[in-house]
Amino acid sequence: MTFSPMLPQKSCALRVMPQPSDANVHGDVFGGWIMAQVDIAGSIPASRRANGRVATVAVNSFVFKQPVFVGDLLSFYAEIVKTGNTSITVDVEVFAQRMSLSEEVVKVTEATLTYVATDRDRRPRKLPELG
Ligand SMILES: CC(C)(COP(=O)(O)OP(=O)(O)OC[C@H]1O[C@@H](n2cnc3c(N)ncnc32)[C@H](O)[C@@H]1OP(=O)(O)O)[C@@H](O)C(=O)NCCC(=O)NCCS
Repeated sequence: MTFSPMLPQKSCALRVMPQPSDANVHGDVFGGWIMAQVDIAGSIPASRRANGRVATVAVNSFVFKQPVFVGDLLSFYAEIVKTGNTSITVDVEVFAQRMSLSEEVVKVTEATLTYVATDRDRRPRKLPELG
């Protein structure tokens, strides 16, 4: 499998290929399926920063810019843009390499989500110091 040079050079949190069961009868992938993958991708840098479990507290924005089709190779780029006392806000950009074999790459989705570091009792937990 080849990765297009048109993809961003920053590190990719997740790559996944939607299957027929993720699509409607027209072959377009369900927005809810994409939202679930975005939530997973964003939680990866958030849990690393929290050094433990996090819960999604808010989806601040979510834009579906282009449709996603079965067989597209999706790359999810997730970047922490803000941290607070217990919260971590992450931008997620999703790029589709059409039918996985072509060089065509399009940005299909962008979203911003906020996660909260939580303790064993699922209550907010202060973020650990950096370094
Ligand atoms: C996440 C959760 C533990 C937070 O508990 P809480 O009592 O609401 O927490 P607080 O009000 O103290 O807020 C905690 C942090 O979240 C932030 N926050 C709360 N609501 C927010 C919102 N709507 N948007 C952005 N940030 C928000 C607060 O600003 C705070 O950040 P800070 O500590 O960095 O300043 C609780 O809301 C929860 O369990 N929610 C369900 C999570 C879940 O199940 N998600 C999966 C989807 S169903």
